[in-house]
Amino acid sequence: MSYNNILSEVTNGIATITINRPKKLNALNKETIQELHQAFDAADKDPNTKLIILTGSGEKAFVAGADISEFADFNVGQGQELAAKGQELLFDFVANLGTPVIAAINGFALGGGLELAMAAHFRIASDNAKMGLPETSLGVIPGYGGTQRLPQLIGKGRAMELVMTAGMINAETALNYGLVNHVTTLDDLMPFAEKLAGKIMRNSSVAIRSAIKAINANYEVGVNGFDVEIKAFGACFGTEDFTEGTTAFLEKRKADFPGK
Ligand code: COA
Repeated sequence: MSYNNILSEVTNGIATITINRPKKLNALNKETIQELHQAFDAADKDPNTKLIILTGSGEKAFVAGADISEFADFNVGQGQELAAKGQELLFDFVANLGTPVIAAINGFALGGGLELAMAAHFRIASDNAKMGLPETSLGVIPGYGGTQRLPQLIGKGRAMELVMTAGMINAETALNYGLVNHVTTLDDLMPFAEKLAGKIMRNSSVAIRSAIKAINANYEVGVNGFDVEIKAFGACFGTEDFTEGTTAFLEKRKADFPGK
């Protein structure tokens, strides 16, 4: 499929989705959000894709936020719809995807950009990256899940400060806060992401899909994550991957998971 604002390619089981509006620092306009939804959906349904890496094009930005030019004249109803639609189409969609998503943050990840990175299953960053939720400096608040996912990842006090100051933190601080798992040079970012992807892809994709669901259940209001885990754990015993994984261990060989 061809897109106007993103690039998507699959190599060796890894789908790399690149937001590609470098002149606008990869800001997320409506069309880009729609295209990202399609690309994530297609990658998740593609049997040849085992993992997704999300990054931005150019050396300056991952994503510098939602496209401010598109919503500057919105009213209350339109504002609410923008957040609701965006969360449903992209941010919650990515967070709940069964295929693992790694955000490779290659520069500014601001506003909707950081919210998108936080919707990914985990994040790595290059040492030039800068992250923040600057919405209060524009007279709004984060609307793509940022007020929920940032405190989940870095704690309430730090999230409060970052949102209230509309400030930015560098990659090193993001690493200290646990917002990103690893920091590399810009040149090493994608090779490092692919190396991590390789380690993940050796394991059962069926079990990983279940694990994502169980871990996410911890953050769902009214859902008992322990119960979700028990059911998901039990379901693994009926999979071909489980048979192969345990048999391979007992036969002292490497598992070759069918992904079923
Ligand atoms: N929405 C729309 N356009 C954006 C954008 C956004 N979130 N972020 C950057 N751009 C555009 C700029 O308007 C500019 O376009 P132009 O060349 O047509 O004027 C282009 O991207 C380059 O950005 P510029 O501001 O000139 O780069 P800079 O290096 O001076 O500053 C930033 C970089 C990231 C600090 C600055 O672009 C910025 O503050 N962006 C907005 C961040 C934000 O508030 N995001 C949250 C939105 S809810």
